[in-house]
Amino acid sequence: MNKDLISGFDLNASDINAIFSLTKKLKKKKNSAELLGKTIGLVFQKPSVRTRVSFEVGARQLGADCVYLAPQDIQLGAREPIKDVARVLSRYLDGIIARTFAHAHILDLARYAKVSVINGLSDLYHPAQALADIYTIIEKAGKCKGQKLVFIGDGNNVVHSLAALSAKVGLNFSVATPKGYEPDKKIWQEALKIAKKTGVKISHCYDAKQAIKGADFVYTDVWTSMGQEKERKKRLKDFRRFQVNAKLLESVGKKYCIMHCMPVHRQEEITDEVIESKSSIVFDQAENRLHVQKAVMALLLK
Ligand code: CP
Ligand code: NVA
Repeated sequence: MNKDLISGFDLNASDINAIFSLTKKLKKKKNSAELLGKTIGLVFQKPSVRTRVSFEVGARQLGADCVYLAPQDIQLGAREPIKDVARVLSRYLDGIIARTFAHAHILDLARYAKVSVINGLSDLYHPAQALADIYTIIEKAGKCKGQKLVFIGDGNNVVHSLAALSAKVGLNFSVATPKGYEPDKKIWQEALKIAKKTGVKISHCYDAKQAIKGADFVYTDVWTSMGQEKERKKRLKDFRRFQVNAKLLESVGKKYCIMHCMPVHRQEEITDEVIESKSSIVFDQAENRLHVQKAVMALLLK
């Protein structure tokens, strides 16, 4: 495995297998001693419920101690050069979990840190989320090969990470976005290149009804991500045909599960009725953040 987990592209199929097989073991026992005596720092520029708590609790369950550094503490990129922060923190810590606005900030941290850096969400990627999502799909379907995951909404950090990983694990991935909200071209091309080799179907279109046909898993995320609050009004308008609701789901034509990385903006990207329905597996997804990230930390920071 690479030193850092910055995006799904850092992992090969055998890394992903190792993460998932350790996840399965760790999920059966709450506490263990893989990271006994280590200290992990959480450097966050944005708010968080799941990422912060699941990494922190997970680290403690593995025997490690944690330091949470809120946006106002480190002021990453503002108070001093990131390369200095990275080198100083490496003298104190055994690993860094970072949540940033600019993806370049994570890259800088990883480049200059001696210790492993794990991306806990940047504007471009959310690999820990996508790993937990795919683990959840495997739990529900018994496998991910040949399953169809459909994402309706913004071609954002979550989509990029799902694309990078689904191409590697054999999960077919269709995305529908409004015009102007496509996944990043370079990232998409990279995912397509991998998918071509692995025989996975990855596609993007502008028609939610068309994309959703035959889905095994239907996924959405907020229309306004953290840091985009000023665009909210425009986004509400641009995304209005991309709400995951009962009407749209009629087009699936089979049994499906509903996924969401959370937080949920109810009645925007998804209706309350759908997120609360029997098909929704969002809390299993959220729980699996804990188990999968424990495996990631155990493998990277040991
Ligand atoms: N899904 C997710 O990363 O949630 P938080 O922003 O609460 O960490
Ligand atoms: N796309 C969302 C994901 C939140 C977990 C954001 O970046 O805010």
